[in-house]
Amino acid sequence: MTEKRYFIETWGCQMNEHDTEKMAGILSEMGYRATDSVDDADVYLLNTCTIREKAEEKVFSRLGVLKKVKEKRNGDMIIGVAGCVAQQNGGDIFQRAPQVDLVLGTQALKQLPEMVGRLHGHQGRQLNVEKDPDNHLFPSHVPKRGTSIRARITIMEGCDNYCTYCIVPFTRGRERSRPWQDVVNEAQRLAGMGFKEIELLGQNVNSYYSTVNFARLLRELQAVPGLETIRYVSPHPKDFDREVMETLRDCPKIATNIHLPAQSGNSRILKRMGREYTRELYMEKVYMIREVLDGIPFSLTSDFIVGFPGEKEHEFWDTVTLLDEVGYDRIFSFAYSERPGTGAVKHADSVPQAEKMYRLKILQQHQLEIQKERMGGRVGKTANVLIDTVKPGEEFPLVGRTRDNILVHIKAEVGSPERFYGRPVTVTVTGTGLHTLRGELCGQDPIEHLWSPIAASVG
Ligand code: SAH
Ligand code: SF4
Ligand code: F3S
Repeated sequence: MTEKRYFIETWGCQMNEHDTEKMAGILSEMGYRATDSVDDADVYLLNTCTIREKAEEKVFSRLGVLKKVKEKRNGDMIIGVAGCVAQQNGGDIFQRAPQVDLVLGTQALKQLPEMVGRLHGHQGRQLNVEKDPDNHLFPSHVPKRGTSIRARITIMEGCDNYCTYCIVPFTRGRERSRPWQDVVNEAQRLAGMGFKEIELLGQNVNSYYSTVNFARLLRELQAVPGLETIRYVSPHPKDFDREVMETLRDCPKIATNIHLPAQSGNSRILKRMGREYTRELYMEKVYMIREVLDGIPFSLTSDFIVGFPGEKEHEFWDTVTLLDEVGYDRIFSFAYSERPGTGAVKHADSVPQAEKMYRLKILQQHQLEIQKERMGGRVGKTANVLIDTVKPGEEFPLVGRTRDNILVHIKAEVGSPERFYGRPVTVTVTGTGLHTLRGELCGQDPIEHLWSPIAASVG
């Protein structure tokens, strides 16, 4: 019997990337092998995202391509849709795309073996979009992780905020957190395997609560030997309190890029969006962060939505001025996209598409100006960087990230750059791109830790 093969395509957020690692692990345990060719996959899964309408459209256009592949193979191929499009659309997917055999909701990953087994047994199409509030309690040895430096760990899933534009609470369910001992055990295991960086995942990662809060969990993880950095996505501004900031200040392994998704700079729109702060309260948070992290390099980033229903032009300009007031190192901005079943659908006063695109362009151009200046301000300074990519023979053979998550391409005339893989180094910043820095290696050797004092390691 020939070995069966699988292929998983992933869209969306880090949680989806990690769910793909979980599904890959499950399929490997079933005896499947990964393939990178569409044509010889026996099981082909699309792990999907529905955050905006475009994301969902991409899935159905991809399914159109896969239909032809399946026809060429006389139907001898299992096509599955997993992730948020699966959770949101359920069995309707079979109507719209009859070539699909399997619809696997976001909380049904553990059912994958049985469902695939039934498909092999010709028991007809398989659908599971049931809620399993324990799906976040996943055996930690199963995920098949891609790199050997950075590992993702789910610490909580779901969202109870119901921002009026957002589909995530419907696709990921209610908030639930993993016991902190589980998380620490997984981190210890990964550190023992040689991973240097862990990325904690959750739709509201800093709402984490399981007998201890997020700040306490971070302190527990700081104590895990072997780790260089602890990152986390995606946080909500309401849960960035003084205690979390003081933890960042005290624990040098915790990343210092503060993602503080504002969504809008106008308090009336924020209220309509169901965010739990006004512009003023948001700014207070920014001041608190600056005060507590005084003297520690950190970056501030945000997400924005332009053209939310009823957003007047002057209200949009409040978002533009917020960029100046805060001085973000990077933003991720989107034109509002209506999502079925969300609270904002009831607003009839939509902003025309062309206007949304115009506002998006203004916002992005404005940010680029701010960013040029902020990135320019880093030139000439030194920073520690954890190397996660090595490209022998290239002018910038080392690539890595600073503690505050800025990507740095490093010029280094060293014989064998491979020895830097997974190691921290000190660099002098020599130039900038739009989102990345260029730097030169200080000294010929790695340093002890990403958080080692910079002055002591230069020279
Ligand atoms: N839990 C995260 C959000 C993840 S979605 C948080 O609260 O920050 C990532 C981003 O997509 C959001 O921050 C928002 O800016 C954007 N987004 C979500 N729904 C959207 C919609 N309907 N239209 C446009 N952008 C949207
Ligand atoms: Fe969506 Fe708001 Fe929850 Fe973030 S906090 S996932 S934007 S509902
Ligand atoms: Fe997309 Fe679902 Fe993540 S909608 S952003 S894949 S939680």
